[in-house]
This record gives sequence, C-alpha cells and structure tokens, in this order.
Amino acid sequence: MNKKQQQLFFKMKLRIPYYKIILLLLFISFSCHSQESKNDKSIADLNFNTDWLFQKGAIKEGASIDLNDTKWRQLNVPHDWAIEGPFDNKHNARTGGLPVDGEAWYRKHFTISKKNKNKCISIEFDGAMNEAKVWLNGVFIGERPNGYIGFELDLTEHIKFGKDNVIAVQLSPKDLAARWYPGAGIYRNVRLKINEPIHIPQYGTFVTTPKITKENAVVNIETKIENHHKKSENVVLKTVIKNANGTIVSMNSSKIKVEKATTKNIELTISKPELWDITNPVLYTAVSSIYKNNVLIDEYLTEFGIRTIAFDKNNGFLLNGKKVELNGVCLHHDQGPLGTAINYRAKERQMQIMQSMGVNALRTSHNPPSPEILKVCDKLGIVVIVEAFDEWKLGKVPNGYNRFFDDWHEKDLRDMIKRDCNHPSVIMWSIGNEILEQSKKDGWQITKKLNDICHDEDNSRPTTVGFNYYPAPFKNNLAQYVDIVGMNYWPENYNEILTKNPNMIVYGSETSSQTSSRGVYHLPIKFKEKHETNHVSSYDVTVGPPWAYAPDIEFDAQEKAPKSLGEFLWTGFDYLGEPTPYGGRDNSTNGYWNDDWPSRSSYFGPVDLAGFPKDRYYLYQSQWTKKPMVHVLPHWNWEGKEGEEIPVFAYTNAEEVELFVNGKSYGKKVKGKDFTMIPSEYHFFKKGMYKTKYRLSWQVPYQPGSLKVVAYNKGKKVAEKEIKTADKAAKIKLTADRSLINADGKDLSYITVKIEDKNGNFVPLANNLIKFKIEGKATLAAVGNGDPTSLKSFQIPERNAFNGLCLLIVKATEKSGEIKITATSKGLESKTIILKSK
Ligand code: GAL
Repeated sequence: MNKKQQQLFFKMKLRIPYYKIILLLLFISFSCHSQESKNDKSIADLNFNTDWLFQKGAIKEGASIDLNDTKWRQLNVPHDWAIEGPFDNKHNARTGGLPVDGEAWYRKHFTISKKNKNKCISIEFDGAMNEAKVWLNGVFIGERPNGYIGFELDLTEHIKFGKDNVIAVQLSPKDLAARWYPGAGIYRNVRLKINEPIHIPQYGTFVTTPKITKENAVVNIETKIENHHKKSENVVLKTVIKNANGTIVSMNSSKIKVEKATTKNIELTISKPELWDITNPVLYTAVSSIYKNNVLIDEYLTEFGIRTIAFDKNNGFLLNGKKVELNGVCLHHDQGPLGTAINYRAKERQMQIMQSMGVNALRTSHNPPSPEILKVCDKLGIVVIVEAFDEWKLGKVPNGYNRFFDDWHEKDLRDMIKRDCNHPSVIMWSIGNEILEQSKKDGWQITKKLNDICHDEDNSRPTTVGFNYYPAPFKNNLAQYVDIVGMNYWPENYNEILTKNPNMIVYGSETSSQTSSRGVYHLPIKFKEKHETNHVSSYDVTVGPPWAYAPDIEFDAQEKAPKSLGEFLWTGFDYLGEPTPYGGRDNSTNGYWNDDWPSRSSYFGPVDLAGFPKDRYYLYQSQWTKKPMVHVLPHWNWEGKEGEEIPVFAYTNAEEVELFVNGKSYGKKVKGKDFTMIPSEYHFFKKGMYKTKYRLSWQVPYQPGSLKVVAYNKGKKVAEKEIKTADKAAKIKLTADRSLINADGKDLSYITVKIEDKNGNFVPLANNLIKFKIEGKATLAAVGNGDPTSLKSFQIPERNAFNGLCLLIVKATEKSGEIKITATSKGLESKTIILKSK
C-alpha cells in the first residue's frame, strides 16, 4: 500500500459498520491489484470497485443523497447485469437474447477525510454501458453516452469532506443499440483519484521512440502537468526509465515553472535497447515524478515499448524493419459465459488461445477496447488495430451511436487515442467499420475530419477503415482520406485495388465469416444448409451471411496478393449475439427477428463461446503456424452408417498426410498436389465447387474403430492424431488450465469437463448434465459449453455437455488455500480435482 492509500485507509470511512472491517481490508487488498490492468497509473489512483449498490428500473430521485438505498443489492464492479439473464426472445437475438436494455442505477457511499480538503478529487470509469449520467451528492457531474469510452469526472467542488458522500450513476442502455451483445452496467474498472493540486492528469504522458539504432533508442516523453493553484509554481519533474527487471536505464531531472497546464517534452536515451517484438515483447516503464520543495507530490507510471512500425506499399507491414504478415482476428469485447464484466485473466486466456492458433494481430471490432486487452497484447506480443466506431452519422440499428455522433465523436476519438497511444501493440487507428457514408458523395468529409483528428493526436500511427462496399468508396474519393485501406470480404480485389491505386496499402480488415458448431457434422455435405437443429456443420463449407466464404479462399487471395498486409478473420471466438445464419433480417428497421430462436450467439468463431477449438481452428493453425501439426475430422461414431462413405478431412502444415482406418492405410495425400472440392459461394455471385489446396480428404467406408492421420515431412513422421469410436459415456475428466491461481478475488481457473467412455475415449456426442460443487477458496464464475442455442443460465453450478465437452470457470476469493471441485452426473463416475490459490 502506498502512502496515499494508507491515508485513505485510515481516513476514509466506508458506509459499512466497523465490525465489517474485514471488508475494508479487502478493499485495500483490491487497491493493490486494481491497477495491474492499466497501461498508465498514478499514485493518486485508488480502487473504487467495491461496495456499490445496485437497483434496476427507473428510480425517481435516484441521485438524491437522501434516498433510502439500504435495501439495494450490494455488489462489486465490474458488473454486467445482462449476463445474469434470463435469455428470452422478447430481447433481440442479435444482441444475445439477454436483458441489455432498460434503466439501472448504481450508488456508492464514501467518506473522504478533511485532510484532503485542498486536493483534486475525481472519479475515473474505464467505461459504463450505456448512456451514463453521474451525480455526486445530488449534483449532476457529467455524462458519457458512449459505453466503450473511459471518462474522468471532477468531483472536487462538491465533495463533503469528513461526511458521507454518494456517487449515483444512471445507465439507460436501449434495445438494439448495437449489432452484437454490448453487455450492460459498470462493466469496467472504476478509480477514485486524490491528487495534489499540481499533478499529472489523466492520459498525462505520450511516449514515442523517434530514433532507434542497435546502440541507442531515443525516447521522447511528453508529460502534462496541471496546476490548480492560483499562481504558477516551480517544481522538479524527474523521469526515470526502468527496464523489465526494474533496473533504471535512463533518467532526467528538469526544473519547470508550471502555469495552469504545462506540457514538458523530455528526451531520454537508452543504450542497447531491447525491442518490443511479436516474439519477444519487451516492455519498459517510465516513472514520472513531480517534486515540490524536494517533496514527492505525484508519481505517474507509463508502460511502453521500443519498436518501429512501417507500412510499405511493396513489402507490407514491417515491425522493427522485418515483414510480419498479419494473421489477425476481429474480436468483440465479451468474454463468453462471463459476459462483458472485464476480467484480465479472461482476456489473457482468449489471446493465448488465439496465439496458439497462430494469431499475431487483433482488430478490436467495432469499438474502443478495454485497457486490459491492450495490456494483454503488449505482454503477449500481438499487434492491434484499435477501432473507434461502427456508425458515424448514418445508423445501422435503431438506437446506435449515430444519435450521439455529432456531439461526441471528436471527444470520443481523441480520448481513445490519448488513452491507448502508449501501447506498443497498437499499430493503427481504425476510424470506422463498414460506415454507411462510404457510398455517399460527401462521405469523404467526415472521413477527412476523423483522419485529421487521429493525426493531430498521434502522427506515429496510420489510420484505417474497414470498407465493405466496392468500388464506391474509391470512386467518391473517400478511401483516399485514410492511410491504409481495409477491405471487408473482397479477397479477390486486393490486386485490382493496388493496381488502380498504386499508392494505396490494403489488407483484409474482415474476412471469411464462415460459421460452424463445434463437433457437429451433417451428412451428406450440403451447400448453404440451414439445418433444423439450428447448428452448422463443421465441415466448414460456406454457410454464413451472403458475403461469407470459406477460409481457404482468403488464404489463396493473400498468397496471390503478396503486397496485402494480411487478414483479420471474422471472428476469432464465437460471441454473444448475431446468431447468423439463424436470425432473419428486418429491412425496415435494419434490425433482426428472432425467427430462428433459440439461436442466441454467433457461430463465426474457429473457437466456440466456451473457448473450445472447432475443426476450423486447426485449419487456421495449418496455415498460420510452423510447428508440425495434423488434425482429422469428423468424429468416428457413426452407428448405423457402417459401410457408408464418410468424407474425412485432414488439416496439416506438413508436406503430406497418410490416413489409416483400423490400421489399414487409405494412402498418402500431398499438400499442394492433392485437392479437396468443397461447395462454396464467394461474394454473392460465384457459386459452385471450390478446389481447395488447404484441405486433404478421403472418402472412407465407415467401420467403427480407429481413425488415424500421420503427417510427414521429407518422408519422416512429424505429427499424428487418432480418434477412436467411443463406447457409451462412463466417466468425467476434469482438466484445469491453471491449478494454482492468485488469491486476489479476480483470478480464474478454467476447468474443461470431458465425457469419456470406460476406456478413456472421448465421447463426441455426449450431452450429460454435469453438476458442480465448489468448496474452499473459490466461487462459481460461470459455466458454458459452446452451444449457441442453449438458453440455460451461465451462472448456475450445472451444465450439459455439448458434443462431449463443457466448461466450469471458478474465481479465486481473496484468501489463499485449497479449492476442491467435484463434478457429478447421473450414471457417470464422478470426479474431483484440487486447485490452489495463493
Ligand atoms: C460484417 C460486420 C460484422 C459482422 C459480420 C458478420 O459485415 O462488419 O460486424 O456483422 O459482417 O458476417
């Protein structure tokens, strides 16, 4: 605990009685961890996440200091009320069939000691969904309609020192405000800041590395200092750079006369700099301290990386001078069964799964991300396109951001850049996705304005847009106003765009939109099949929206357009909402009907909502990774189909694959020489059989037993995979992704539940109901199974397996110790595992 936190600990009287001092201690322990997720942090930051009061519905006088809120539900934020459910088809399936709309109030009581009277006090939200209005002690303090943007509000004037204060937050998210599940609530972190009158404000530093050689890196740190005294003051700004081990590698001390708001540029040099890279993401920390009369009055930490980025029309994207092909994913911001309430570990797991598929790039579709995901990408070495808007002035949904665009776009865009500009992972600013202005004659005007704002805030990164019309935005000169052209779903036009516009740089900002359900195979393989089960077959032949196409088509297009920067597939994970192809479109409102209820989440991911890989995950892995791998599909449980021919597909990055059924070879297939024909459609008009070189296949008469693929390079076995026909379900297998977690009240362990037969074979069609008992130092965070049609709550201690798998997520309490998890199911051998928290 630092000095300021200690002061607050002793002087701040929470509204809870003293006998609940334990809670207060928790508050402090939260404080110590709360800042991990932010890229910049100040000693003024205090965790303000605990002990909020919550009430849904319209409340008269909800902001009043006299309101009796003693019966309100007590909770900690980040909180997403919509994920609590229930699912119902009165809510649009497009936003997840969950209660994402309606009014709700959060209130928090707190006391700040009289000793802080001369300080500057503010509250910072990393985002509140949606249309937030904030009052302090009944006085309106400010608002922020955009739920994805962080904002800070000054409280100083209306704080009652030494007395009870109440912050009241009203949220009024509307139905169909997004085309996906937005979540609802104070779903990101909140901080209280108690600053000296002279301090480094929110988004107070901007670090750039203008000159990098092997010997030296020049680090430029623009530091803002605010002075809330009436007259100018003299201070010393001390800036220290520490490497990843905490060793000081450079420092500077400058005397500054601070007027009201002063910006000071500090140039430091680091010798033998370690570069931030995809393979070795090294981070440095700048510590900016302000001293007045030799007393430390503020300290502000900024994490950054030293790296160069360049976009070259001939060589693509260069990181530290080396070409990196972008193997990217678009991701919405939900965390599957956990909803949108931000959790660092949930984000980290998502990106680790993506990395294991070969992903090196992320597009934060279609909104400013949480600070946590950028931190994760900084740490893991994943480059990011940070996107601002899905709508400008022209709306796509009845209650979209277009309602606020005129009044808020400039502030929202500037704040997004100010907050995220120090992340080495961030390589581009996207000013929009499929904005409808792209086909309008004067659409270039907004494009130019937004582009100029980005450059004004940060001229070290290019801008981009994801265009889905072609050639409209090129004809009306709109595309010319962004630095880099992203194309959504036009793989065969990259070269044409480059030829017609020789100075442009292009990439696939959204690709494929293939859909599938994990572990589901429909035979025979049918083109554009809309199945009565509301599931999509994992043979992954084109099923999706009209613009969708198989991943293979994009792989091929990227190979044929070597100047393209790469692709961002839609989407890395399934997400809540947008259950295409099971959801009809209502053109009059551009909304979606629930005509295919109960589909409530998307089928787009190569990884399902629970984080389990589908077959398509391995198709991407075969294209994006080098470590030898091979994958085979479908499952091998086709009772009743004995003797019938089953299509067997193999995905590999090796040279050739041999297929064996019960030990008998069905021959080797060579990648690049042997092809698979898949029914396909490409961009509305090209229908037919598509010859893909990315999949190897055999037609095999079914006989139960073993299905095995062996991959070879230069005739030598490099990988193999075997599937066996399973007997009936007999036992449960539990595997935790981490068996030692942090006892910080936030850390998660993801436990995979696998149904096996008596011989330990995976049972691919098992759907047994599994019940969980969690004992010891953890609580239930969520359950899931990746079934996009399940309407069961994510928050009860039971789940049916979906095609043999389900998931339990447990959250550590703040006490270390043992966590005992027992899974039982009627007719199955139960299972217990022990985890630890520390
Ligand atoms: C795109 C859109 C995405 C998603 C996707 C589904 O046009 O940008 O947000 O809706 O289609 O295929």
